[in-house]
Amino acid sequence: AHTPYDVDVLVVGAGPAGLTLANLLAREGVDALTITKYPSTAHSPRAHITNQRAMEVYRDLGLEAAVRAVATDNSYLRNNVWATSFAGREIACLETWGAGVERSSDYEAASPTAMCNVPQHRLEPVLLDGALAAGAQVRFDTELIAVAQDEAGVTARVRDRRTGAESALRARYAVGADGARSRVAKQLGFSFTGETDLGAALNIWLEADLTQYCEHRRGTLYWMAQPGNDYWVGSGTWINVTPFTEWVLLVMYDPAEEPDMSEEALIERARLTIGDPDVEITIKSASKWSINHLVADDYRRGRAFLAGDAAHRHPPANGLGTNTSAQDAFNLAWKLAAVLRGQAGDALLDTYSAERQPVGRHVVDRALKSVEDMAGISRALGFEPGQSAEEGWAALDALFGPGEAARARRDEFNTAIELQNHQFNALGTEMDVRYASTAVLADPADEAPERPADRDPNLHFEPSARPGAMLPHARIERERRAQSSIDVVGHGRFALVTGIDDAAWRQAVDEFNAQAAAAGRPGLELVQIAQGGQWHDVFAEWDRLRSVGDAGALLVRPDRVIAARFPAAADAAEARARLGAALDAILGTA
Ligand code: FDA
Repeated sequence: AHTPYDVDVLVVGAGPAGLTLANLLAREGVDALTITKYPSTAHSPRAHITNQRAMEVYRDLGLEAAVRAVATDNSYLRNNVWATSFAGREIACLETWGAGVERSSDYEAASPTAMCNVPQHRLEPVLLDGALAAGAQVRFDTELIAVAQDEAGVTARVRDRRTGAESALRARYAVGADGARSRVAKQLGFSFTGETDLGAALNIWLEADLTQYCEHRRGTLYWMAQPGNDYWVGSGTWINVTPFTEWVLLVMYDPAEEPDMSEEALIERARLTIGDPDVEITIKSASKWSINHLVADDYRRGRAFLAGDAAHRHPPANGLGTNTSAQDAFNLAWKLAAVLRGQAGDALLDTYSAERQPVGRHVVDRALKSVEDMAGISRALGFEPGQSAEEGWAALDALFGPGEAARARRDEFNTAIELQNHQFNALGTEMDVRYASTAVLADPADEAPERPADRDPNLHFEPSARPGAMLPHARIERERRAQSSIDVVGHGRFALVTGIDDAAWRQAVDEFNAQAAAAGRPGLELVQIAQGGQWHDVFAEWDRLRSVGDAGALLVRPDRVIAARFPAAADAAEARARLGAALDAILGTA
């Protein structure tokens, strides 16, 4: 009764999740509409740490350089400073985000792209421009008021916030990328596990030239700790927006008492942890947010999906908010496109939740654990609830004094700082993706763990070419072009990565593509990576990583996940049969 559809996919929300999805769907030629209730993209800095996995998504879209162009130079990522104030005593420093001497080679080996420090209000316009250039429809000032679904589609009532006019929209599918207060999640009955309101935070966006206090210890996070404040962020965390004149000051407050949001009060708060009364402070804006620890139990309900903060809500520790959002979109977009094209069955859409929900679960738990782990720092500093400021300062002085007791306290303190690597150099959590679903054909031969027992899975990343992992990065070359193995797959297409002995696979792919073309379906890309191959494995890195022999092959999904691994085939017919069976199983068309 409801057809025809106004649009195939309605994306509610134009934050990092919605805009990434808008880009990917537009590239696939999907008829999608993205709406946002606001008149523009994010109006304040918010998130900023963009990890390599998210950058790989932007790289796949051809937006990496544009993102990098609005980001802060990576030399400003390096130090994580703890101090009593900018002008005051420096307590500790930890090298972070893979930029330090200890971890930089691990980060460089993990990906062809680097970490990126880009405030959200600068990132989002790049994503918007990319989406529009790819042909996406994005409508601002358009608020979702009500949403319901039936077997054939989703009906949304939206309001034009400029005119107040309301209208109905009918879509085949809807994605709730509408943030932490998701109306899509609420109205369509998604269930969540976790806790809410674990802390109340205030973001104060301001201008203050602190160059003289930062240039010798360039970083993006400056943690201020003074006695009399037992919150995990200490007395205020300064997040650098523009070196070193523009900042977000993050402070916690007691939700039982409304914080004083007057300009004088905000300036006073900032002044306290600058520690230099001569620094001029200009407040730009302030906003409140609360700490949650929640994840949707299932990211799919019928024809509706959740992505980004709508699905997982957690504190900013480990910087996983926007990063997880971008990767949700990367997982979902090609699946929606394949189903809408008639290339895949509905079961493929279930794999979105099967694959991304466990990631969301891990992310919310990890972020909360990192918050809890910060308490050890204040404890080791000798700051205790209820003590006077004098007692607190005396405890800090004693920490750096002579004698056995101070030595023991410093050991405890150093351990507490060292533990912060789990938040600030957590390459494993940032990079490691292992999916288990019907869209991955696991190989029983892969039972044995790949990870050495002494390697912490949060801190360390193990590249893997097993089904379910993202295709690992290896440096390759062709005709004087240096690229990564990840650059020659993805881009919205399935690929078969072969070795030097690939005649059977070549013939099989040719046949497959001829049949696909006749049926109007997308074909497969064959990519040979080998020493001396089409893509020359010049460092023999791929040879060590690939997990198949010279005559084997890896089937790689459009989101660069290894979907299947094939040993050598006897002939082209066998290769073709295996390829067809694998794709049928993955796409749910068997
Ligand atoms: P996001 O919240 O960015 O976007 C939601 C979109 O949905 C918006 O476009 C909005 O207009 C739209 N929308 C919502 N309801 C709608 C409706 N009814 N109709 C139409 N449109 C609707 N993270 C981090 O890692 N580090 C940090 O420091 C911070 N700091 C921070 C500060 C503040 C003030 C906030 C609000 C958030 C953070 N975050 C953060 C979280 C980070 O910003 C967050 O993880 C990402 O923005 C999530 O991206 P999404 O696209 O999922 O939602």
